[in-house]
Amino acid sequence: MKTLIVFSSKYGMVERCAKIIAEKLGGAVLENLRNNSDIKLSDYDTIIIGGSIYSGKIRDEVKEFCNKQFKELMKKRLGLFICNMGNGDKELLESYPAKLLEHAIVKLPFGGELNFEKLNAVDKNIIKLQMNIDKTVVKILNENIRRFYEAIKIV
Ligand SMILES: Cc1cc2nc3c(=O)[nH]c(=O)nc-3n(C[C@H](O)[C@H](O)[C@H](O)COP(=O)(O)O)c2cc1C
Repeated sequence: MKTLIVFSSKYGMVERCAKIIAEKLGGAVLENLRNNSDIKLSDYDTIIIGGSIYSGKIRDEVKEFCNKQFKELMKKRLGLFICNMGNGDKELLESYPAKLLEHAIVKLPFGGELNFEKLNAVDKNIIKLQMNIDKTVVKILNENIRRFYEAIKIV
């Protein structure tokens, strides 16, 4: 029973969460969609997908992956997560196709991080204007991360 965690992360929060889940599950394979969009799913029984929200939308690579692999994903044990700063429950439901959400064993938001030392100038401006935030904010939902791996682990 092998597990694959597929993710897309701009500043590293989703990647950190993906690594925590991989460690807790004891040896999942990690694939960053920014480096590889052509991923073979046949070797895996469990697929976890994670992406972050920018201007109300999940990152394009995640959307494209879900559309392209939809049929295969419907045959797998599936877990879905997002990282964001706003209303995670609402954004999660808008981020993945309804049928994948229905099929998933677990789907949860993990919170988010805005690190002003990492953000590029354009993103800093967007955050200041749209969210009225001008310093680093960290909101990690550790309890949701724990619930997620407890739900998806194979016992
Ligand atoms: C330019 C910008 C736009 C964002 N837009 C949203 C948004 O519309 N809704 C939201 O909930 N979070 C938004 N966020 C917060 C990110 O989703 C959050 O920082 C997340 O942790 C990023 O994860 P990543 O570093 O893995 O990409 C935005 C962040 C940036 C920098």
